[in-house]
Amino acid sequence: VTVKLVVSGATGRMGRAVAALAGAEEHVTLLGGIAPREPGVDPGSGGYPTLVDLEDAGALIDASQVLIDFSAPDYLARLLGLHGDRLGGRALVVGTTGLDSECRRLLEEAQTRTAVLTAANFSVGVNLLVRLARIAARVLDAQDFDVEIVEAHHGRKEDAPSGTALALGEAVAEGRGAALAALRRDGRSGRSGPRPSGEIGMHALRGGGVAGEHIVHFLGEREQIRLGHTAAGRDLFAEGALRAARWLAGREPGGYTMAQVLDLED
Ligand SMILES: NC(=O)c1ccc[n+]([C@@H]2O[C@H](COP(=O)([O-])OP(=O)(O)OC[C@H]3O[C@@H](n4cnc5c(N)ncnc54)[C@H](OP(=O)(O)O)[C@@H]3O)[C@@H](O)[C@H]2O)c1
Repeated sequence: VTVKLVVSGATGRMGRAVAALAGAEEHVTLLGGIAPREPGVDPGSGGYPTLVDLEDAGALIDASQVLIDFSAPDYLARLLGLHGDRLGGRALVVGTTGLDSECRRLLEEAQTRTAVLTAANFSVGVNLLVRLARIAARVLDAQDFDVEIVEAHHGRKEDAPSGTALALGEAVAEGRGAALAALRRDGRSGRSGPRPSGEIGMHALRGGGVAGEHIVHFLGEREQIRLGHTAAGRDLFAEGALRAARWLAGREPGGYTMAQVLDLED
């Protein structure tokens, strides 16, 4: 069965990676892309049969079964605002990170009529890492093991800490029966004082061409455990997003996770 796909954020780094892979995938038909129109850019560029503005995307969405979004929170919010009704009965895969509360609210609303899968990371390895972090946090007591999460990404990334780092932080908090918001501490500087036990430290490095690196440190007095993942390139995420798109097509409206796609649930 072939899935009819549309990509939003089509001209970005991830959008282009998805288009390149979709072109070579026999189970996916790439109908077109949605992106801000730039003067002088060929609408057929980047492997898309057609490239349209958000305002003109109605017919393209109507013809699709699945939409993959790798754009920006404000763009996704506009997409949902303009085309939320059209997405009814279809599937939406969201890879965009740094979502604000308004965007989350719109996604929750969309789930009442659309199958929605939101993932901060589409790689098998990271999704396994999230699960391992939850298990480790359950076993390694907060009194004895301090958790610090360190991530690195290319210098053009818009949000910090990364969505994946936040998902790892949530997994650690969950493993300890707490909420991340109450324990999270982003960076330290100056006279930061003694570290409260239970705190979850988050640190973001930015630079070069790093596709994505995450390390969860469990720091004890006598031993330290480090769980980590390194992505070699963006194709990894694009491939996972296409896998999610194929899995999600035709599902009932509601919210789904990458752990379900990968059969990684506890
Ligand atoms: N879930 C995952 O596995 C995963 C992996 C990698 C990245 N991501 C996330 O996916 C999103 C896109 O990443 P990317 O590296 O492809 O970014 P990018 O290269 O900046 O591409 C973003 C796309 O969205 C469009 N856009 C519209 N409004 C925008 C705005 N206000 N700010 C920035 N872009 C805007 C851009 O259009 P123009 O080209 O006209 O600017 C472009 O088409 C980010 O949220 C990133 O964190 C997720």
